[in-house]
Amino acid sequence: SSSPDDEKPRPSMLRHLTSKIKATGPIPVAEYMREVLTNPVTGYYVRNNMLGPEGDFITSPEISQIFGELLGVWIVSEWMGAGGPRQLQLVELGPGKGSLACDVLRVFSQLRSMLGQVSVSLHLVEVSPALSRLQAHNLTGTRSQEADAEDEPVYRRGETAAGLPVSWYRRLDDVPPGFSIFLAHEFFDALPVHKFQVKTEKGWREVMVDIDPEKPDQLRFVITPSPSLADERRDHVEVCAEGGVIVQQLARRIVEHGGAALIADYGHDGTKTDTFRGFKGHQLHDVLASPGSADLTADVDFSYLRRMAGEGVACLGPVTQRTFLKNMGIDTRMQVLLRNCSDPSSRKQLISSYDMLTNPAKMGERFHFFSLLHHSRLAKPKRTEGLKLEKKSPAPLPVGGFTELSFS
Ligand SMILES: C[S@@+](CC[C@H](N)C(=O)[O-])C[C@H]1O[C@@H](n2cnc3c(N)ncnc32)[C@H](O)[C@@H]1O
Repeated sequence: SSSPDDEKPRPSMLRHLTSKIKATGPIPVAEYMREVLTNPVTGYYVRNNMLGPEGDFITSPEISQIFGELLGVWIVSEWMGAGGPRQLQLVELGPGKGSLACDVLRVFSQLRSMLGQVSVSLHLVEVSPALSRLQAHNLTGTRSQEADAEDEPVYRRGETAAGLPVSWYRRLDDVPPGFSIFLAHEFFDALPVHKFQVKTEKGWREVMVDIDPEKPDQLRFVITPSPSLADERRDHVEVCAEGGVIVQQLARRIVEHGGAALIADYGHDGTKTDTFRGFKGHQLHDVLASPGSADLTADVDFSYLRRMAGEGVACLGPVTQRTFLKNMGIDTRMQVLLRNCSDPSSRKQLISSYDMLTNPAKMGERFHFFSLLHHSRLAKPKRTEGLKLEKKSPAPLPVGGFTELSFS
C-alpha cells in the first residue's frame, strides 16, 4: 500500500547505490541496509506504508488489539513495581502505524483509577515522515503539528483526545530524561547489520555489497578482510552495532532515571548465522533485487543485546511470544472477549488472531520478548522495622510475562 508520496518521481535507489559504490567502492551490508531502509529521500520506510494485509508484512499489534492491551498491562505493572513514580514517559521506538501505542493508552484510561495522579506523556522515535503522519492521525486526529524548523529535535507535537502530550523524535538521544518505559516492537530487526563470514584460513571477512561486473545494473555480495572476532564459533555472524548502541542508551537511561524496556522481535540467543532477508507482498524477496521496494530485516541477536546492556541493568528473557502472552493472561482475556461477542465472523476473527499470535508454528515461537530492568526492581524489598512476626522478607512483585501473573 503506497502513500500519495509514491506517485512523485524519485531518483532510483539502485542508481543512488551504484553511484555511491562507483565513487567509494563496495559498501558494508549495514550501510546498504541503512540506505535502502532509511535514506531520507528514497528509503523504504521513509516513503511507504508497508504494514497490513495490503502491504509487505503484518505485525502482532496490527493482528489483534489484545497484543497491545497486554503490553499496556505490563507497563502499568512495571510502573507499580517501581513504586508508582509521579511522571511516566511511555517511549516507543519505531511505532509503525501507532496501533500499539493506541492500545496501550486505551488500557491506561481503563486503569485510570490505578494510575491515580500520574502524569503520562507519549514519546515516539520514528525516522519516517510518512509513518509519523499516520501515527499522528491515529493517535491525535488533527491535534498535532509539525515543528517550524526541519532540524528541531522534536519534529512534531500533538495531544491525544484524552489530552496526553505526544512528541516525535528521530533519535532516542533527543527524548528527554525521566522515568520511562520503553517499547520496541519489530524495531531492532530493522536496524542495519554488519555481516561477517569465515571464508579462508585468514579468518573473518566482512560481507560487502558491490556492483556485479557482468551486469552493471545489478548488485552482488563480495567479501573483504576484516578484524577477527575472538571466541566466535559460528562461520557466519551478523552484528547490529546500531542496535548495541541503542541498548546501551536504554540501559544508561534506566540506571539514571528508572524504568524498564520491553523489546519484542524475532531473534535468537546467539545461535543463528545468516538471517538477512527481504519481504515484499508477504513473500520472501531477494535482498539485492530492486532495493527500496521491499523490507529488509535480520533476526535480533539477544545475546549481543544482553552483552551490550552491561551489568548496570538486569536482563530478562528472551522468552517466546507464546510464553510471554500466556503469562500475561491472554487466555483469560480471550475468554472475556469471546463471552461478550456473539457475531460469528468476529468470533472467528478473534480465534484466528489468537492462533496467529500464540501458535508455536506461527508467531508464538518465532517472536521473543526481552527486557531491561533497573536492578532495584528485582531486589527484595527491605523488611519493615519492628515487624518481628514476619518470617520471610517480602518478595519483589513478579515481572509480568517472564513469570506467570496471577490475577486475584
Ligand atoms: C518493522 S516496522 C515495525 C512497526 C511497529 N512497531 C509494529 O510492530 O507494527 C519498523 C518501524 O521502525 C521505524 N524505524 C526503522 N528504522 C528506524 C530508525 N533507525 N530509527 C527510528 N525508527 C526506525 C520504521 O519507520 C517503522 O516504524
